[in-house]
Amino acid sequence: MPGHKGNFAPLLEAGLGRFDITEVTGADVLFQSSGVLRELEERIAAFYGVFGTAVSTGGSTLCIQAMLAAAFRKGDRILAARNAHTAFVNACALLQLEPVWVCPAPLDHARVGGALTPEQITLSLHEHPEVRGVYLTSPDYLGCLTDIAAIAEICHARGLLLVADNAHGAALKLHDPDRHPMTLGADLCCDSAHKTLPVLTGGAFLHYSSRFDAEQIKAAMALFGSTSPSYLILRSVGLCMDWLESNGAAAYRETAAQISRLKEYCASKGICVPGGASDPLRLSVCMADFGMTDSAALTYFHSHQIEPEYIGGGYAVLMASPFNRSVDWQRLEKALEELAAMPRSESAPVPLAFELPEAVMPPHEAVFADSETVPIDSAVGKVAAQTVITCPPGVPVVVPGEKITPQAEIILKNSGNFVVKVVK
Ligand SMILES: Cc1ncc(COP(=O)(O)O)c(C=O)c1O
Repeated sequence: MPGHKGNFAPLLEAGLGRFDITEVTGADVLFQSSGVLRELEERIAAFYGVFGTAVSTGGSTLCIQAMLAAAFRKGDRILAARNAHTAFVNACALLQLEPVWVCPAPLDHARVGGALTPEQITLSLHEHPEVRGVYLTSPDYLGCLTDIAAIAEICHARGLLLVADNAHGAALKLHDPDRHPMTLGADLCCDSAHKTLPVLTGGAFLHYSSRFDAEQIKAAMALFGSTSPSYLILRSVGLCMDWLESNGAAAYRETAAQISRLKEYCASKGICVPGGASDPLRLSVCMADFGMTDSAALTYFHSHQIEPEYIGGGYAVLMASPFNRSVDWQRLEKALEELAAMPRSESAPVPLAFELPEAVMPPHEAVFADSETVPIDSAVGKVAAQTVITCPPGVPVVVPGEKITPQAEIILKNSGNFVVKVVK
């Protein structure tokens, strides 16, 4: 293995074949790393200043599964910010864990984005003394950052683990101040290196504190991961680390300075960007203020030859990296200048404040129950058997085991979801 033996001409001509190897002698074994892959992981851990790092070629999705498997036991309840990714809900179902949801407080008039506050965590832990840990997603899709340092203190004072989904924040380590969740006190954290660093899609890091050891983390990853990790991805992680250890951090700080200038420009022109601490590489702009629907906002950016990362909930989310070209920045500046000159809409639609649905069974019961797909119109009052994530960005409107509410029906329809899987 591999079947192409490094000699299949189309792969070689496409530049793909050479590094696609398997766990042959000298190439190490990802889930029992002791050679070159262990060295790579030690380099990453040293760079991030953490006790240990395991590399994933299955994205943060695999890291999330492994983090939960390493940290919790069947039946445990976890206090979780509701802006969690589907990967978290799915991992809870697979491991028979039960999320206790808390909704991040909205940070702006459009009621999207936001972060859990330390006060919310304290209150929720008081109401749910049975939870075994706290799970946060920060940055969220709009780039809002949670006060992880304060929440870590609260967790550790109670002997609880803090697990962070930092899928969007691998580069947070490179900025000044360093806002990486592990620096701020998280016990476990995943970074989708591929989202913000020059790493091939699928490359991610699982960082762990001294409360865990490599064997435990690797065993948890092996529960879910393929025994044939992509060496193309692993090679790209090595190349990324070479670059980060030389001039990468400086390049990221320059990109952050450009974004910061654009955020200041937006503020000076009354263009709404989410308040509070935010991801230095991300610019989220409220387009609803200009009376634009999400599809009109997409057309607007396309007319400026810009592909936003995401449009939804009235916002356009733009993500930058040191590998954007100067023409990209020129296009963005022009798009923002033209936006600043546009009239504001008095009647911008304000999304509904999200209300948590009632959970009537744990996610694993609903996911593995007999289910059927029904029109949204007839789903109210039924129990969801799937996660549906829509506006506000990144917040699951329904998760398996929750009763579908009339509000969920409206939100789902407004975002183009007309059917949903429910428990029979
Ligand atoms: C917040 C968040 N967590 C986890 C994931 C899963 O990451 P990956 O695609 O690296 O598996 C994503 C993917 O978009 C995400 O947005």
